Amino acid sequence: MIRAMERILADRMRLIDASGIRKVFALAQTMPDAINLSIGQPDFDAPADLKQQAIAAIQAGFNRYSQTKGEPELVARLVELAKLQTGWEDPMVMVTCGVSGGIILALMALVDQGDEVIIPDPYFVIYKHAVNLLGGRCVFVSSYPDFRLPLAAIKDAITDRTKLIIVNSPCNPTGMVYSAEELRALAQIAAQRGITVLSDQIYDSFSYDGPCPCIGPYYQRTIILKGLGKSYGITGWRLGYAVVHPVLRPVFEAMAMVQQYTFVCAPTPFQRAAIAALGLDISCYIEAYKRKRDLICSILSERFELVRPSGAFYVFVKAPGSTGSEFVRKAIQHGVLVIPGGVFSEQDTHFRVSFAAEDRLIERGARILTSLA
Ligand SMILES: Cc1ncc(COP(=O)(O)O)c(C=O)c1O
Repeated sequence: MIRAMERILADRMRLIDASGIRKVFALAQTMPDAINLSIGQPDFDAPADLKQQAIAAIQAGFNRYSQTKGEPELVARLVELAKLQTGWEDPMVMVTCGVSGGIILALMALVDQGDEVIIPDPYFVIYKHAVNLLGGRCVFVSSYPDFRLPLAAIKDAITDRTKLIIVNSPCNPTGMVYSAEELRALAQIAAQRGITVLSDQIYDSFSYDGPCPCIGPYYQRTIILKGLGKSYGITGWRLGYAVVHPVLRPVFEAMAMVQQYTFVCAPTPFQRAAIAALGLDISCYIEAYKRKRDLICSILSERFELVRPSGAFYVFVKAPGSTGSEFVRKAIQHGVLVIPGGVFSEQDTHFRVSFAAEDRLIERGARILTSLA
């Protein structure tokens, strides 16, 4: 049976396996009483006004395909935002099916068999598997133990086959927010060889110790990916967008062409609702998440080695004594769901705790974890 199945599946399926996050997600369904600190999305629901906008858009008949690059009114609003963030005069914007959609479009447009993609480790899981699916080669560059951008190692990793450098700030799973100086230095390194940078900024509204710098102002050969899902509690609406400078117009057009033949467009009624989302004030959510960050760090740092995150909603904690997976097994036995660091890394020394949860659950879960250290 297995041999027959092997013949059915494309060879590329051997290059990937199920996300470890999904495995914990499935486990969570079977443990209703567990304290779930594995979640990769906010615990707040979409603002009521936004839900109304989506309902109104459906009732008003926005139920058909949108243009490939997105609803023109939304795109126009996003262009204005992109100008402010990048300082670029004429940014090009395309609405994508979540940031995941943007990652796939960019990689499909850029990565050939054997091309190298430099990825700071730990990293968000999709990068590795998407590059592998396309026959590219991930070149991981360790950012342990402080999780700052490993600039010297990135420079050393560049070869004639380097096609892309991926940078993710605030970072999943470490919560690191890279400084403007780090991003400027990365821009200089990439510029020496004209290498494109893919900047995943899905968490940039979750930045607790100051605004999250963007590499755009320092480097035009950047594909910036941004998302609406995490910021407004609408991960299921599948909305993200790509911002590209006109120097990369062929890449932008290639991404649009891939979108045309794959996702077609992001969901139209949600794009309409997103026009309203852009005007919403989400500062109370961010303040609440900053307090959650402080709460979890104050408890976990009593017993664990960790680097305090400045953004996103994760803490990447060093497992005491054993491997990350062994500690996670123990945590799950005690009713706390967290994710082994090996899911996000080539090494299995840490575990990821999400603080996208109610305060009382954060407190109880973190106390159980410290009792296991
Ligand atoms: C760093 C990072 N990029 C992209 C995504 C995917 O986001 P979306 O739901 O918009 O596809 C996630 C989701 O967890 C993420 O953590």
